[in-house]
Amino acid sequence: MPILNKVEVLVGDITQLDVAVIVNAANSQLAGGGGVDGAIHEAAGYRQLQEACAVFGGCPTGDVRLTPSFNLPSKAIIHAVGPIWRGGEQGEPDTLRSCYRKAMAVAAKEGFESIAFSAISCGVYGYPHELAVVIAVNEVVCCLAQDSTVKKVIFCCFGEEMADLYRQRLKNATV
Ligand code: APR
Repeated sequence: MPILNKVEVLVGDITQLDVAVIVNAANSQLAGGGGVDGAIHEAAGYRQLQEACAVFGGCPTGDVRLTPSFNLPSKAIIHAVGPIWRGGEQGEPDTLRSCYRKAMAVAAKEGFESIAFSAISCGVYGYPHELAVVIAVNEVVCCLAQDSTVKKVIFCCFGEEMADLYRQRLKNATV
């Protein structure tokens, strides 16, 4: 199957998706919060998910941790800690790239065939959307080219504006 056929853009609530694993935009304490993290905690079951996260004692920025997803339709959650945007000269692109690469590596290692990403760092962490989308698409396409375990990647957006950016970028993507 051509690689770009494995990638889909969806507008909706990531907590509702029936995929093997969803990717949360977490903080480095894995302490829960607002945005997509809050929605995931609420839907998964706040107490159980916090207990599962507490085992790790946090997670460095640019890295990911895997937990069960409890009450969600997905099997598991990958918590990715994206960078806070500080103007782009503080390593933000590499750190964001690392979140996507590590999430794809965990999915492949665990044998998860479908994965849905939230737009890591694109909310309160302030990453410019156009720049984040280029990184997300490039890194995911690159990972799909290197390992065939993952058969479906969904970029789950909370609005049409964000979804359009992904669609545009995918149109221009080269594999
Ligand atoms: N489903 C899909 N996407 C969602 C949902 C949802 N239910 N809720 C919010 N989003 C989108 C936002 O519109 C944004 O595009 O997720 C993207 C990421 O935004 P944030 O959740 O603010 O994540 P981020 O910018 O990475 O900031 C992380 O926010 O609350 C916290 O604990 C979290 O401290 C961490 C910080």
